[in-house]
Amino acid sequence: MADKEVKDRIDRLKKTINHHRYLYHVLDRQEISDAALDSLKHELKLLEDAYPDLVTPDSPTQRVGGEPAAGFKKVKHFAPMLSLEDIFEESEFDDWLARIQKLLGGGKMPSLFVENKFDGLALSLIYKNGVLNRAATRGNGLVGEDITQNARTIEAIPLKLEIHKDLSTGQVGLPSRIFKNLSAVLRDGTLEIRGEILINQKEFKRINREREERGEAVYANPRNLAAGSVRQLDPKITASRKLTFSAYDLVGDVGQKRHSEEHQILFALGFRSDHDAKICADETQVFKARKETERRREHLGYGIDGLVVTVDENLFFEGLGVAGKAPRGAVAFKFPPLEATTVVQDIIVQVGRTGALTPVALLRPVNIGGVVVSRATLHNEDEIHRLGVKIGDTVIVGRAGDVIPDIKKTLADLRSGHERAFHMPKKCPVCEGEIKKDKDGVMHRCVNKKCQARSLRFIYYFVSRQGFDIKGLGPKIIKALFDAGLIQDAADLFELKEGDLTPLQRFAEKSAENLIKSIAAKKEVELASFIRSLGILHVGVETARDLAIRFRSLEKLREAALEDLERVPNIGTVVAKSIFEWFQDARNKEFLRKLLRHVSIKYKKAERSKKLSGKVFVLTGTFKALSRDEAKKRIREMSGDVSESVSRKTDFVVAGGEPGSKLARAQEFGVKILNEKEFLDMLS
Ligand code: IVH
Repeated sequence: MADKEVKDRIDRLKKTINHHRYLYHVLDRQEISDAALDSLKHELKLLEDAYPDLVTPDSPTQRVGGEPAAGFKKVKHFAPMLSLEDIFEESEFDDWLARIQKLLGGGKMPSLFVENKFDGLALSLIYKNGVLNRAATRGNGLVGEDITQNARTIEAIPLKLEIHKDLSTGQVGLPSRIFKNLSAVLRDGTLEIRGEILINQKEFKRINREREERGEAVYANPRNLAAGSVRQLDPKITASRKLTFSAYDLVGDVGQKRHSEEHQILFALGFRSDHDAKICADETQVFKARKETERRREHLGYGIDGLVVTVDENLFFEGLGVAGKAPRGAVAFKFPPLEATTVVQDIIVQVGRTGALTPVALLRPVNIGGVVVSRATLHNEDEIHRLGVKIGDTVIVGRAGDVIPDIKKTLADLRSGHERAFHMPKKCPVCEGEIKKDKDGVMHRCVNKKCQARSLRFIYYFVSRQGFDIKGLGPKIIKALFDAGLIQDAADLFELKEGDLTPLQRFAEKSAENLIKSIAAKKEVELASFIRSLGILHVGVETARDLAIRFRSLEKLREAALEDLERVPNIGTVVAKSIFEWFQDARNKEFLRKLLRHVSIKYKKAERSKKLSGKVFVLTGTFKALSRDEAKKRIREMSGDVSESVSRKTDFVVAGGEPGSKLARAQEFGVKILNEKEFLDMLS
């Protein structure tokens, strides 16, 4: 392609990718598949690699790719990021309304703009000449941290602002004076947008589940996870968290007269904001909106903790001024909190599958939003220090949806003097074995691999959905079998006979038979599931799959040298070491030997599948995870064909490092190009 054509192609690709970003992240609409969009991004990346001069900071390829930062620079906000006064009761709302009516003179009822108060992390975005220039956290309101590199990874944040037309009317939904001013600022000027970084509840659960599987500390709530994610020094980690952004404020004058107009502008600029925000004429409408929103709260997908009610007319809002750190013209009208106070009767320590010790508070049972709670996690020793909680203390316990309840605050004023400080045990509370702190200094672990608590937890894990998925085998039965000496490890499960079970009280004969059957049904497993079931520290679903793809048999994995493991894509030194050591351990070797007497491992259903049947692949460049011959073999095993040259019949060109001329031909013919990761995903 001539240079001019390349530039045009790049521009068009950027425009199209941005358009689909807007549809997906702002309008919740999807017109082309993820794979198709990835394919466009991929083409853009290849063109930019070939023509580095054409890379601009607002290109969609620049969302990830920044180098890990050494730390976060402090930056001063252009205007302070204020907070809001919290109110909880309707009567408090009436008081606020009466107060501002009086201040506005003549008891005039201002119109009120009502929107969700998102429970995330406040963010300020500075756009210079329409291009994202700086993203900063709120910090103390005056000075925040520069997290631009991380914010770029969030697709709901436009890298370049443009004025979008309403898709149904084809019109820009803005008054013409605003349109004119806005266009001028986007060409030459600065605009600040504020809003909230959020994480979807489902993502929150997924990430915590994976952390749990890997034996890592879980995040207490979506807010902490969002905050933790944007404060990662490596933008790649932020990118992997699927964060989103909802805008609520436009700072700067483009001729807007109302807060509701600012929302229209934010929307036209390609931001997501609260879809259900609306103007209310009086308190009755506000109360109704609050009740309705509270009802829908659980289904929103994102955490909200109330509504923000703002005097819609900017002149009035500004006229009301600021009291302390909060504007008088807005309030946070919070939902009744899912919180209650109770007493910590004791603190115990639970030992997990990886030996992690989690302190748990045993509470005087208390009803929180209709659910009786008697335990709350204290996460780890640092959290106990942060809360300053002692046994006997009165505490505030919070529950957020189906997140495990946790302690929010210690009410030290209520102490009688009989409270006792809690210390993490020096020895494992179950086996009295040695305890060590992780390198990062957060989690304590029992290092005794024979620890009974660890063994039991491991068996729970082994039979769970993340492991062998043996139906009908819950923690109570396992404990009973363990206590009766019938099983000592998970491999023993496969030796159980019906007769072993019947003496156990819990079993009628019928269920013993079912249980034996469901165990027997799992005597053949796929390699990736098998690896995952071993419960190796840091090895979750994804890593197990990467290992299965790379080694293709347990024998090969077992014999792998540390360096071989480090070379597997997505596996770093810490994870490689953990895997390597697991297979060196004498007890684990014995466990495997026992297990393999009963279980046979198959490598990939897909291996014998017709998954790639009729598909023609061409390989170019070098791959990290496998040799070219291996790649060919794998394609053929899945009934695909490999060809040496690109033609119209080619379905996929797989491009590794330093691809050759085949890539250009692929583009010419419009053949789908896969990178190594996409290719490996296809094989798995
Ligand atoms: S307006 C004048 N609107 O709540 C203050 N804030 O206490 C400007 N928040 O940390 C805030 N959703 O990040 C506003 N729709 C919304 C909001 C919202 C969440 C957060 C905000 C700030 C805190 C204010």
